[in-house]
Amino acid sequence: MVVGLGTGSTAVWFVKALAGRGLDVICVSTSVATADLARDLGLKLADLGEVREIDLTVDGADEIGPGLSLIKGAGGALLREKLVWEASRRCVTIADAAKRVPVLGQFPLSVEVVAFGHQSTSLRICDALTECDIGAAPRLRARDGATFHTDSGNVIYDIACGRIEDPAALASALKSVTGVVEHGLFLDLADLALIGTPDGVVSLEP
Ligand code: A5P
Repeated sequence: MVVGLGTGSTAVWFVKALAGRGLDVICVSTSVATADLARDLGLKLADLGEVREIDLTVDGADEIGPGLSLIKGAGGALLREKLVWEASRRCVTIADAAKRVPVLGQFPLSVEVVAFGHQSTSLRICDALTECDIGAAPRLRARDGATFHTDSGNVIYDIACGRIEDPAALASALKSVTGVVEHGLFLDLADLALIGTPDGVVSLEP
């Protein structure tokens, strides 16, 4: 099998468990950090371009809303995550019960933006948010006092939307902004969610 490896603290558990099985699989990573971990654990890695299609991807989520609509991106890997998810026949998200929400938006939505002129792009993002009746201001992500750059060299704006009443409309408005590379709304992509609860794992389908 070709297996997509997610990014984040929950995905780390999956990568460790997969490596522990000693299976003959080829893995495609969604970030440099996960690739480093997978390599250290002895997993075989390939680039997305080499495999073209992935059998199964397992990854975390920041929020899991109705119909398995998701917010992802707190780890800064949303672009590669979405590329890997979209190339996967089956996508499973793993999370603890605190990630389940009735409406997406409490967790800040990440938007990956080309670094060139990103301050200008952020003004267009504000217009897109206004179109969707979202009053929040995009906030440039920083780490250790410097602007955060993704594995692909882009910057990230985080948006505390509050409530995203129409995720599909917001997704489309954000994608129409030149300079926006990708956003953290993962809609119609997850096939299954495995939620860890004190009473065991709960499976959810869209
Ligand atoms: C990485 O960019 C994210 O999409 C993560 O998958 C998401 O933030 C979940 O991370 P945790 O498992 O660390 O909560």
